Amino acid sequence: MSPRRSPRTPPVPAAGPLPTITLVESAPVAVVLAGLTRPGESGVQVLTPLAAEVPAVVLRDAKAKAGEVLVVPGLGGEQPERTLLIGLGEAQAADWRVAGAALARAGKGDRSLVLDLTGAWPDGPRVRALVEGLLLASYRFARKKAAEPRVLGEVVLVGSAELQADVDAAVTVSGATAAARDLVNTPPLEKSPAWLGAQAVPLLSGLDVTVHDAAALAKRGFGGILGVGQGSSRPPCLIEARYDGGGSRHVLLVGKGITFDSGGLSLKPNASMLDMKSDMGGAAAVLATLRAVSDLRLKIKVTVLAATAENMPSGSAQRPGDVLTQYGGRTVEVLNTDAEGRLVLADALSYGARMAPDAMVDLATLTGAMPVALGKRHAGLFSSDDVLADQLLQAAERAGEPLWRMPLVEDYRVALDSPVADLRNIGRPSLKLQGGSITAALFLREFTGGLPWAHLDIAGPAFTGSDTDERTKGGTGYGVRLLVAWLTALAAAPAGRRRAA
Ligand code: BES
Ligand code: MN
Ligand code: ZN
Repeated sequence: MSPRRSPRTPPVPAAGPLPTITLVESAPVAVVLAGLTRPGESGVQVLTPLAAEVPAVVLRDAKAKAGEVLVVPGLGGEQPERTLLIGLGEAQAADWRVAGAALARAGKGDRSLVLDLTGAWPDGPRVRALVEGLLLASYRFARKKAAEPRVLGEVVLVGSAELQADVDAAVTVSGATAAARDLVNTPPLEKSPAWLGAQAVPLLSGLDVTVHDAAALAKRGFGGILGVGQGSSRPPCLIEARYDGGGSRHVLLVGKGITFDSGGLSLKPNASMLDMKSDMGGAAAVLATLRAVSDLRLKIKVTVLAATAENMPSGSAQRPGDVLTQYGGRTVEVLNTDAEGRLVLADALSYGARMAPDAMVDLATLTGAMPVALGKRHAGLFSSDDVLADQLLQAAERAGEPLWRMPLVEDYRVALDSPVADLRNIGRPSLKLQGGSITAALFLREFTGGLPWAHLDIAGPAFTGSDTDERTKGGTGYGVRLLVAWLTALAAAPAGRRRAA
């Protein structure tokens, strides 16, 4: 029950600082200058006024699609050593994010570059997207003997001082996203549940953080978290953190925090285990979101619960056929120890529901079926409340973290009935219902106390195999931007008639 800080816990890995972003009103002398382009009627249009003409040959085959980079070598004299022209395409906010990411990659290794926004005149949301792209594409995580030499140091934006608040907000949310990536990218040897609890303390400095250890969980009946964690030599815990910025709304965020998912006795094949250090991506996202919400001083109350355990096979592991008792007293027949996420989340949801929040949202790398259905970009959204669902879909759109609504098919609920317990943890295979992501969501819904609830299955977008746009190989921090966008809107909206949304 007391905040824990293990002295043997290694510090947050130094993943390398993100570039500094400065906003100035008039262009300084630049060694590396960047300008922006758009498709025009007669070829590519250079939006930014540059000191020198761009040689026609450079523009000849260009399209100015979002993220296209044209390199113009120095033309001598007072000119910059290099000018980078970045395509904006249709110049929607999403295009600005892609352009920012492209510039970060093109300028990798430069100590400082100047991006002149004159002529492109972005509004707040576009500048935020640009800065997110610049920062997030610059993120690095590597455990190599030699330090990573090629990172972008500083970006000087030339634009209106009125954009400063948007630049600051983007720096905050990108920093939080980078923190979430660090947690996900940390190797599982280091990443025990206690380690995650210990990381939450400095990450959320200034906020209320309690790490409920295994003894505390046993006393209070958190049988799901304990059951999943009992096969590991490193005990599970529940991280509880709170931010109170006033306002009339209280939101609960729940994250799945499996620091490594071997499957347990229902052991995964090796290939399926390779990325399973990322099975705490939901916990990382909700913890990092709380950091950003606090830094942005949003007028809202937010409670975060990160249910964390290591799912391992051993002589003490739970067995298929075991019956455990979730927080609140309901029993579950565990027929597949690899369906562990729902067990830890069920405890956290029913514990959180007792706080009677206006809305609860959980993020979880819950099912392998989700990326099969939606691919690696979109998370699946399941919700018992249409207003809440629409708010999240809109926030996802603004944040550039795609979300797709999925159905809670009532007819499939029978698949979770068990003859010996209140529920079973996987759908009955003999019914041949398929829809594994749906039955998992239906399982979670049982523990939401009828409160407005949304479940984001982030198994696809939480982790990526390649550097693309603002995403970097490994943990993506998916969900931080989306949740911050949602909570920002919620905190600013007048209190509605309905309790939740
Ligand atoms: N953590 C996995 C889901 C997952 C798979 C996330 C691939 C990211 C990428 C989850 O705990 C799991 O193992 N789910 C099982 C459920 C099944 C046993 C009902 C699955 O999806 O196979
Ligand atoms: Mn699993
Ligand atoms: Zn899992």
